[in-house]
Amino acid sequence: MLPEVNLGISFFSLSTNIVPIPHPNPDNFLTFALQNKRNMSYRSHTCGELRIDHVGKNVKLAGWVQKSRDLGGMTFVDLRDRYGITQLVFNMETNAGLCEKARSLGREFVIMIEGEVAERSSKNPDRATGDIEIVVNDLQVFNPSKTPPFTIEDETDGGDELRMKYRYLDIRRSPVQSKLIFRSKLAIETRKHLDSQGFIEVETPFLIKSTPEGARDFVVPSRMNPGEFYALPQSPQTFKQLLMVSGMERYFQIVKCFRDEDLRADRQPEFTQIDCEMAFVEREDVLNTFESLTRHLFKAVINVDLPDFPRMSYDEAIGKYGSDKPDLRFDMPIHPLNETVKNQGFVVFDNAEYVGAISVEGIAEEYSNKDIKKLTDWVQRPQIGAKGLVYIKYQQDGSIKSSIGKFFSDETIKEWLDQLGVKPGDMLLILAGEKDKTLKQLGELRLEMGRRKGYLDSSEFKPLWVVDFPLLEWNDDSQRFYAMHHPFTAPAVEDIEKMESQDREVLKNLKANAYDLVINGAEIGGGSIRIHDRKLQQRNFDLLGFTPEEAEEQFGFLMGAFEYGAPPHGGIAFGFDRLCAVMNHQSSIRDFIAFPKNNMGRDLMIDAPAKIDEEQLKELQIKLDPKVK
Ligand code: AMO
Repeated sequence: MLPEVNLGISFFSLSTNIVPIPHPNPDNFLTFALQNKRNMSYRSHTCGELRIDHVGKNVKLAGWVQKSRDLGGMTFVDLRDRYGITQLVFNMETNAGLCEKARSLGREFVIMIEGEVAERSSKNPDRATGDIEIVVNDLQVFNPSKTPPFTIEDETDGGDELRMKYRYLDIRRSPVQSKLIFRSKLAIETRKHLDSQGFIEVETPFLIKSTPEGARDFVVPSRMNPGEFYALPQSPQTFKQLLMVSGMERYFQIVKCFRDEDLRADRQPEFTQIDCEMAFVEREDVLNTFESLTRHLFKAVINVDLPDFPRMSYDEAIGKYGSDKPDLRFDMPIHPLNETVKNQGFVVFDNAEYVGAISVEGIAEEYSNKDIKKLTDWVQRPQIGAKGLVYIKYQQDGSIKSSIGKFFSDETIKEWLDQLGVKPGDMLLILAGEKDKTLKQLGELRLEMGRRKGYLDSSEFKPLWVVDFPLLEWNDDSQRFYAMHHPFTAPAVEDIEKMESQDREVLKNLKANAYDLVINGAEIGGGSIRIHDRKLQQRNFDLLGFTPEEAEEQFGFLMGAFEYGAPPHGGIAFGFDRLCAVMNHQSSIRDFIAFPKNNMGRDLMIDAPAKIDEEQLKELQIKLDPKVK
């Protein structure tokens, strides 16, 4: 049974004194007010609740008309609410007036009925309420509905854009609704678990100064401080560190973050993090605490016992899988071939900085020349960017077919295959070029071949901690270092002294005390042990190209706080939307967000962003370039 909830909306409650209608038409807009005045409940049960045991009971249901079928003597209506669908029956013989009224119901009308639960003669085993129907003896229409622009069914005919424009209707569909319910459960379990571990939820401000996380800031002009802007937080990074200086010891927040960056299926301009920070911790403490949170969430919400969380260094992940977020649901590692194939007279290999290959099981016979041509086109697409693809088919009969037969004998090739453990029936795919790029391309090719082999359809979960990231990333174009994670990340203990080096090569090889949680090839979270010493933080800013004045202007508040007894600390943030998606084996986070934005960062429903009027611009002292008007 539903708890008694007074759904009388305050607007109508307030106005009940202007509703002196003794015999109301139940179908007009005053229904709410009268309902409220009579203190009636809208329903005795939900539309997902009634079973064969309820037969003979008088019930009241409220909800939306999913569909209706008029069979002459009888009209059937499917009534839907968040909990399910119940069939209603209106009988022409026993109540012609009511049946007429039922015939006029359109899709998505909001109604309330009273009636008796009856056993259905033809049961619907696919529906939880499929054994019963309600023989209706009273019907009230709260609100009619225009015909919705797409069908409110599990499989809808609405395209993405249309569904986003009418998101409130899209959310009526059960696949979307269940994703939001999932998200709510996950948030509640997160809070429960972190609370049980002594974490305190603290809200941090949204109108702040820039926090660099590698994207552009969204900015908000300040009316009271003309010409000045707040930045919306890319993350609460500096605030959570300040909370450690404040002695909060264990902080968390399920918090919105804002990043102006190119959008993809797993990226939204505003998204949610489970953001955490802990004082007096080493890397192991953070990893264990968040492994335990992840295990709890999987068990409590989807009843999955996660396997081990192996640790892999960044270098190993890149060298073996061409990615810092390898999908470990399948192996197919990259084989480095420099030692094996270079300096034997094939110029493509000889001139390349790096040659590597993946071996794909059982496709040697399956892939025709045309298929290989298509695969070559695939690796040559600008998104992948390989120059070409070399293949070696190890046929079931032991013979070799390859695109490099002119340059290497079958015996030589067979030797390579044996060394690599390639078996008859398998195909070796080789790429050559600059090392970093080629490894990345092989990583993409590995994923594509995994996808084609169906390895990514696996419903298992493979978590992984990637550790020992580089501290700094050199950018050739701007001739400067960028922080690989963010500028507050501590170097590995053994590299602290090397921070003083002036040698770019030494600096490039500095390791960070940073870590990422990866599940099934998705980066779920990232964090690090932080710098808590003013001088070291200052040096890191130097390395990142900040002058002392710039560092002071932007981050003086944090470095200043480090001078008042900052404890050693570290933390992590999980992408909450991504966690929702991965736990449901989905690649897009959009449907786990109630009101998401499209790939242009637009909210199509409220039509934002939008222009603001001249007055507002004037007040903010902002002049637009006449061209954008
Ligand atoms: P980071 O930038 O790695 O770390 O972000 C943490 C996690 O947030 C998710 N994420 C996103 N999800 C959806 N849309 C986006 N645009 C988006 N960007 C990031 C990812 C990512 O792993 N302050 C640090 C954390 C720390 O050091 O404690 C931070 O924000 O899942």
